[in-house]
Amino acid sequence: MTMSIIKKKRVAVFVSGRGSNLQALIEGVAKDGIPAEIALVISNKPEALALQRAERHGIPIAVFPPTGLPGPEAYTDALLERLYKAEIDLICLAGFTRILPSRLLAAFPQRVINIHPSLLPAFGGKGMYGMRVHRAVLASGAKYSGATVHIVTEEIDCGPIICQEVVPVADDDTPETLAQRVLEVEHRLYPRALKLMAEDALEINGLRTRIRQRAD
Ligand code: GRF
Repeated sequence: MTMSIIKKKRVAVFVSGRGSNLQALIEGVAKDGIPAEIALVISNKPEALALQRAERHGIPIAVFPPTGLPGPEAYTDALLERLYKAEIDLICLAGFTRILPSRLLAAFPQRVINIHPSLLPAFGGKGMYGMRVHRAVLASGAKYSGATVHIVTEEIDCGPIICQEVVPVADDDTPETLAQRVLEVEHRLYPRALKLMAEDALEINGLRTRIRQRAD
């Protein structure tokens, strides 16, 4: 019998707030057979609840307030140094409120993923975050929303889509009720996307991704 041993990917999760997706990733790694280890949690906000979640699980944390360093280049250098020191292979953005520097993206090509609370490419892009997304969905009259995990590229919310799930909009939805149902979907979608990335299971062709056909 042949057994392929996959080396666990070391993952950094970038957060800014509540951290419910971080929690879903931690739990997913623990029970869904994802060949990954959450090795670092990075926040731009020292008060982020997500940091407490990380500490509860014994995951190292690092806080990088954007104003703490002399300029954007020094900020990027500090981030990169910390990521290299922790030997990070993959980055998951989970409610991180800052745009990642180009130099960081270039250092992790097709190795940074993000979760967005709509069916991209609809309701994404600059300024489309948090409740604004759900308000815009309701204002548009769309009957379906959902969640998307995608590879991060320079253009905000425009990278190749790894997976998506649909959430029907209810007639009496408010932004809050819709957000809650989308969030529940996010929590099962993100671990699924991380599993695909950690297993190197994706073929990426332009904006299209598909699960690689294995020869074995
Ligand atoms: C989620 O809705 C995610 O899609 C978006 O930011 C929110 C983060 O929530 N990018 P949480 O901090 O993971 O609870």
